[in-house]
Amino acid sequence: MADARPFHWEYTPDPVTREVFRIEGGVPLTGEVPISGSKNAALKMLAAATLTGERCRFTNVPEIEDVRVMAETLRDLGVVVDHPADNVYEVASGDVEWLFVPLEAAAKMRASFMLLGPLLSRFGRVIISNPGGDRIGRRPVDLHVEAMRTLGATIEYRNGYYFATAPGRLRGTEIRFPFVSVMGTENAMLAATLADGHTVIRPAAREPEVDDLIVFLRKMGAEVSRTYPDTIEVVGKRRLRGAEHHVVADRIEAGTFAIAGAVTGGQVTLTGAPCDQMTALLDVFARAGVDATCEGDRIQIDGRALGDRGFRACDIETAPYPGLATDLQSPTSVLLTQAEGTSHVHEAVFEDRLEWLSELRRMGARIDIADNHHATIHGRTPLRGADAEIGDLRAGASLILAALAADGESTIHGAHHVQRGYENIERKFTDLGARIARLEEGTDSTPS
Ligand code: UD1
Repeated sequence: MADARPFHWEYTPDPVTREVFRIEGGVPLTGEVPISGSKNAALKMLAAATLTGERCRFTNVPEIEDVRVMAETLRDLGVVVDHPADNVYEVASGDVEWLFVPLEAAAKMRASFMLLGPLLSRFGRVIISNPGGDRIGRRPVDLHVEAMRTLGATIEYRNGYYFATAPGRLRGTEIRFPFVSVMGTENAMLAATLADGHTVIRPAAREPEVDDLIVFLRKMGAEVSRTYPDTIEVVGKRRLRGAEHHVVADRIEAGTFAIAGAVTGGQVTLTGAPCDQMTALLDVFARAGVDATCEGDRIQIDGRALGDRGFRACDIETAPYPGLATDLQSPTSVLLTQAEGTSHVHEAVFEDRLEWLSELRRMGARIDIADNHHATIHGRTPLRGADAEIGDLRAGASLILAALAADGESTIHGAHHVQRGYENIERKFTDLGARIARLEEGTDSTPS
């Protein structure tokens, strides 16, 4: 009898080169750091480029692993993806022969699921791996799938794959999400651009990266607008054209470097930063006593108050935009270890984003984790160098921040997680005076 196990069980991930960040902490960071293009915008642009057979060109694309994975996934489908210069990608999706997005792509990156909407809408079918399978994380994609069904697609789930078909065009309709989902909104919006008729998406995510995607879609000839803060409306077109776009700056990277300046007691200027998209973090800075000044696209962070009196404790809660980004919860928690008093952290968006705090405790932080959503940070505690293990992208960047603020040497294992989303992170920190090196696991060397 044939082996009936789901394909998911047969998958063995590619081995990764085990690398560590070796960090000698205690240096106040000083200088200017340029902010790269947004990961969460660039990945969706690359997916959106499959909505047309014409060439699309993107500049300010961050040179990160997730972008490389998306480019490879597209090439495997038969899409031409050129990379003519650093931070520039060109995509031509004339002949897509192979409408299959395998588990190998989904396991590396959840954003591969962003290909569902555009491929289904343009080609009428796609087989795409479930990125929420048990083996690779808990985050479900039910909202994406239901949105496609509402648009008239038939979707069956077998052996870890969604088999999606839409004979003829998808049909414009009203899509009502039970709560806000960033990629759910984006997938529905991309699918609706080629659907027959008018689609209303509500509540639509308000993240700036969604608006950047809308700008790009309009350049492609799509009729898409945000008609209310939480509503996006789309009038479907028969075809879209190629377009060029400069990807918006990465507000999460900007927030990470801003906090790095603060927790090391340094003076850091972010250039090319999206100040107007960082209001929630700037509000935390104001409450915590971190001196931050915005002028145009520059943000100056002066963390010298840390040396005098420490920062002030404050409570934070993550929320969809314009609230405090869940992707900034972990760096902000590092900041709160350097604040006098007790701070409460409420992670309201995801269920598995506080686990990394136990790694931060190894560096001397005093933190109680009450449940999956709540933690209490007792400050101010001096941080000390330690060995810590990175579990995911944002936690990784945050452990680097903690190590930069700590006295002594730290070895942070699992560097590959950070390369997924931060361009040249160690070079950017080195340029600010940090002593950080990325080394192969087991290499014995102290950064100079
Ligand atoms: C995106 C971002 C991620 C960010 C997150 C929240 C990208 C590539 N990733 O992820 O960096 O942290 O927004 O700002 O843009 N959910 C469901 N069913 C679904 C979809 C989501 O239950 O079908 C839940 C999630 O488990 C989570 C919540 O909805 O609890 C919000 O997630 P969502 O906004 O969809 O995050 P992503 O779009 O996956």
